[in-house]
Amino acid sequence: MSGGEARYVEEAFRSNWLSTVGPNLNAFEQRIEERLGLGAVALSSGTAAIHLGLRLLGVGPGDEVLCPTLTFAASCNPVLYLGATPVFLDSEPSSWNLDPDLLEFVLKRRAVQNRIPKALVVVHLFGQCADMDAIRVSCDRYGVSILEDAAEALGAMYRGRPAGSLGDVAAFSFNGNKMITTTGGGMLVSRRRDWVEKARFWSTQARDSGIAFEHSELGYNYRLSNVLAGIGLGQLEVLDQRVRERRIIAFRYAEAFRNLKGITLMPQAAYGLHTNWLSCFLIDSGRFGIERDQLISRLNAVDIESRPVWKPMHLQKLYEQCESHGGRVAEDLFRRGICLPSSSNLTLEDQERVIRVVQEAANSGAHKQAYADFAVPSRV
Ligand SMILES: Cc1ncc(COP(=O)(O)O)c(C=O)c1O
Repeated sequence: MSGGEARYVEEAFRSNWLSTVGPNLNAFEQRIEERLGLGAVALSSGTAAIHLGLRLLGVGPGDEVLCPTLTFAASCNPVLYLGATPVFLDSEPSSWNLDPDLLEFVLKRRAVQNRIPKALVVVHLFGQCADMDAIRVSCDRYGVSILEDAAEALGAMYRGRPAGSLGDVAAFSFNGNKMITTTGGGMLVSRRRDWVEKARFWSTQARDSGIAFEHSELGYNYRLSNVLAGIGLGQLEVLDQRVRERRIIAFRYAEAFRNLKGITLMPQAAYGLHTNWLSCFLIDSGRFGIERDQLISRLNAVDIESRPVWKPMHLQKLYEQCESHGGRVAEDLFRRGICLPSSSNLTLEDQERVIRVVQEAANSGAHKQAYADFAVPSRV
C-alpha cells in the first residue's frame, strides 16, 4: 500500500457506499479509461474479466480457443466455464510469450481444414507484452478475435501502446500479488463501449431494467465493491512508481549476477517496456553449477521464497487431453526458470540477501564445474 488508499476507503465508510455501486467504483473505472483510452468495468477478479471477455467474443459450447501453454491456469479455465475447449500453443524463447510463427502455422493449417478457432487468449507473461503486431496480422487474416490476458502486465507497453489496448478485449488483475492490488479484483477493458456495458450488465446478475427482478440473460455476481475500488484508486496513483521499483529490482539482480555463469534475466524484448512484475531468471545448470530446484531449496532453507516459472498447461492433468502444438520451449522454461522475490516493498537489504544466496549457490557449484572442465581434457 502507498498510504493514499485509506482516504478512499474511509470515504466509502463515511458515505455508507458499502456495496457494488458508488463513487470510488466510478472514479476507479474512469482513471483506467483515461490511462488506456478504453472503456472499463471493474470486476471481482481478473478471472471474471477473462470469463466475461470470452463471452463477449461469442465463445460458447463446442468452440475452440487458442491459448499459450505457458501461463497461469486462470488464462484458460474460463474457456472451460463456457463449455469450450482450449488448444495450446508454445512460447517463443525471445519473449517467453506466444510464438507468432507457430500461431500463423496452426491457423493456416486449420483454415485448410475449415477449423478456425473462435478466439485467441494471448497472455503478457510476467509483465512483458507478447509480439502483438505479428499476432494481430495472423488473427486478422483468419478472422480470430483476441482477448488479452494482461493480468500480469498493467503498466507494460508495446511499441508505444499500453498492454490492454492491443486486442479486442482485455483483462487486468488486482489480486494481492499483482503490480497494484485491490486485495482481489479485476478490470475488463475494450474499445467497444457497448461490450463494456454488456459486461457490466452480466457482472450484476444481468438484471433487466425496471424495478422488478426480471432476467432474460444469464448473469454473474462479478462486480467489484466500492470499498475495494477505493484501494484501487490509491494504488493507481503509484502505478508508475511500482513499475519503476519492480524494474529496478530485476536489473539489480541481473547486474549482481553479471559475472556468474548460467543465470540470465528473462529476455527484455526491444519492442516494449517490460514491467518485470516478477524477476524471472533462467538457470543453465551445466554452467551455473546446480539445478534450478537446488537453488530454490537453498533459498528456501534461509526463508527466501522463490518459485518455478508457470507449469505449462499441456502438462497439467486437467488439460492433458487438449490439443497442443509444440511445447518444448515452454517445457524448457518451466524446467529452468525461477521467479525470485520481486515485491516493490522488498528492502535493499532483502534484495542483497537474495543476491548473496544466489552467488554462494553459484560458487558452490563452481567447484564442480571447475572439476568438470579439468576432467574433460584429461579424458580426451
Ligand atoms: C496470467 C494470469 N491470468 C489471470 C490471472 C487471474 O487473475 P485473478 O487472480 O485476479 O483472478 C492471473 C493471476 O492471478 C494471471 O497471472
